[in-house]
Amino acid sequence: MPQDPNGPTLFLDGQEVRFETGETLFQVAERYGKPIPTLCYDDRLEPFGGCRLCIVEVEGIRNPVASCTTKAEPGMRVTTKNGTLEMHRRVLLEMVASENREVDVDPLSGYASQELATLVDRYDARTGRFQGHRSGTSRPDDPNPFILRDYENCISCYRCVRVCAEQEGDYAISVKNRGFETQITVEFDGLLKESACTFCGQCVQTCPTGALADLKALARKEVPGDTKKTRTICPYCGVGCAVDMLTRGDTIVGIQPAMDGPANEGALCVKGQFAFDFIQHRDRLTTPFVRDEGGRLRPASWDEALDRAAEGLKAVVEEHGAHALYAVASGRAPNEAAFLMQKFVRAGLGTNYIDNCSRA
Ligand code: SF4
Ligand code: SF4
Ligand code: FES
Repeated sequence: MPQDPNGPTLFLDGQEVRFETGETLFQVAERYGKPIPTLCYDDRLEPFGGCRLCIVEVEGIRNPVASCTTKAEPGMRVTTKNGTLEMHRRVLLEMVASENREVDVDPLSGYASQELATLVDRYDARTGRFQGHRSGTSRPDDPNPFILRDYENCISCYRCVRVCAEQEGDYAISVKNRGFETQITVEFDGLLKESACTFCGQCVQTCPTGALADLKALARKEVPGDTKKTRTICPYCGVGCAVDMLTRGDTIVGIQPAMDGPANEGALCVKGQFAFDFIQHRDRLTTPFVRDEGGRLRPASWDEALDRAAEGLKAVVEEHGAHALYAVASGRAPNEAAFLMQKFVRAGLGTNYIDNCSRA
């Protein structure tokens, strides 16, 4: 956010800093390089104030306040870190960690899946001091092929529910019960595929514990090698969503949305998120095919296949005119190939009937 040189100021850990009206204390602290730990926060969503990990002290207010929901006010004196705050945060993480079946989940689970484990390690909170009842009932019976619903690892941060409502506009998941019995659910406690879920995967990618996890990626967790992330653009349509492709060697092991992708800001559809099998599918065509006299397909060389296609196109133009043809370029082709395609159709075949499937 651009800073108004005459804007209001507050004191952050003793330093006078400017802020914009409407900013939260968390946003101001983040901008001035004062990292505050969070669990229920996702900067794409309305702040929720549920986990209380982001507490800060404000002079004149008796108890610490959640920085993600507290608006900055002129003249505030804010402390982001001291022994008391760090002690509160550590105890909170100890309690959260003790309530889950496991803290360490496979990083292929999702984009934010390591947040809890990272914080628990940073605060040395694997003490087991609060071991006891565990909350959350997993749904291993949900037969959908995309999303693991392992609520025994859920910390009730509601990021999944909020992203589904605020980002996807689907309202497919919700919360039932309260307190220790709180449970993420779909309507009538049913299955995701029978709900309004579009399997966009956003709940998976924002979940900070791996309670919601990417089944397609986890199915590849035994692929050997280190995981490499490569920023690219989803090939499915013309929106141009940025994604990080996860690979081990030459095997694609998962797709994660780019949270800073200008067109998608972390959102994807079911195809961009989960449909990457085709790239290395055993049934994928690796050579052209042409039909023999009996109409059966047989493998052919590129020269033979291109000759056959040219003969067919010429025959249509001669018999019915150029406007009898209509061409659709593939959205998976690069811009240069799409340009050549329209040139070929317009200049070569003589018709303007050309479109691209990316215009979906
Ligand atoms: S996959 Fe998308 S639509 Fe389905 S529950 Fe998650 S966020 Fe909602
Ligand atoms: S499933 Fe994940 S995102 Fe949803 S409330 Fe639980 S921990 Fe948070
Ligand atoms: S991040 Fe502020 S209350 Fe959870």
